[in-house]
Amino acid sequence: MLTILGIETSCDETAASIVRGDANLVQGEILSNVVHSQIDDHAAFGGVVPEIAARAHVEKLDGIIQRALSDADCSWDDIDAIAATTGPGLVGGLIVGVMTGKAIAYAQNKPFLPINHLEGHALTARLTDGIKFPYLLLLVSGGHTQIVLVRSLGDYERWASTIDDALGEAFDKTAKLLGLAYPGGPAVEQHAIKGDAKRFSLPRPLKGEDRLDFSFSGLKTALRRQATELGPLKEHDIDDLCASFQLAVTESLKDRVSRSLSRYRNEFTDDQPTLVVAGGVAANKAIRTMLEATCAEQGFSFLAPPIALCTDNAAMIAWAGLEQLAAGAQSDMDAIPRPRWPL
Ligand code: KG4
Ligand code: ZN
Repeated sequence: MLTILGIETSCDETAASIVRGDANLVQGEILSNVVHSQIDDHAAFGGVVPEIAARAHVEKLDGIIQRALSDADCSWDDIDAIAATTGPGLVGGLIVGVMTGKAIAYAQNKPFLPINHLEGHALTARLTDGIKFPYLLLLVSGGHTQIVLVRSLGDYERWASTIDDALGEAFDKTAKLLGLAYPGGPAVEQHAIKGDAKRFSLPRPLKGEDRLDFSFSGLKTALRRQATELGPLKEHDIDDLCASFQLAVTESLKDRVSRSLSRYRNEFTDDQPTLVVAGGVAANKAIRTMLEATCAEQGFSFLAPPIALCTDNAAMIAWAGLEQLAAGAQSDMDAIPRPRWPL
């Protein structure tokens, strides 16, 4: 059995978690999972302010780690290694997490494992459901929109990424344009439920193109034009704009994802391949329903870990550390924060 402390500070969540698992890696057990969201600190600015984020991590992280230990009923003696998100992300936050992780590793004489945040998302479905390699991952968050082939531990191949905005970012920018609260995804979804998705015709970016990538910025620009033409927006205009936006996003995403599923089918022979979804946008019901249907149409299983583990958290970082340690990874005290670190 291995017990790992994970630390996550790459964006606007300060998080620590303790995960236990055995070397055969049949799913892990989350002993504690503490997440402090900084949403309230950033809401007035309509987005994450890096300087505020870094300061908030400094203020909160020690207490959050202590809580992760006490919730798990663990002492330092029970911990086999410290894993911390080392990139990609905002450099100020990464410095706080990496330095704290290394200081603990040094003081407690434990290995320090630098973890790629995207690898954390990529391996979450193994922590929660023990799924086997290989599988496809759709990561849709505020900072990333990617399809990754997860071939095995440490072997990831990016098949698609966004050529402009991330999907969550498109939701957030749309919300801001319509005067809705930050973060925009949940607000847009709530309005979309009441709206008429057919009222505005918006583009379906890249639909029908052979490449696998995503694009969302044209959609946002088209929406801005429609909103400006309406003049002062009434509540039902906002509902209809949100519904039209969400439908356009969902249809564009369906076309793109479907192409990656077809490619997987051509390259692999598994009977029942799996698409795993991760990232905050996975909370969107219309998108989830579409993904479920698309997977069913193409003979894929669809796996969505619980939302609390789809959004940023430290359990996924602890788990990635556990998998690495079990595979023989060594402590790396020389690791430095890497704001850009592709998988
Ligand atoms: O994974 P996450 O918590 O943080 C990172 O970006 O790393 O994702 C946050 C993103 C935000 O852009 C937020 O607007 C979006 O996920 N989001 C949603 C929904 N809930 C959160 N987007 C669409 N519909 C939702 N229900
Ligand atoms: Zn993330």
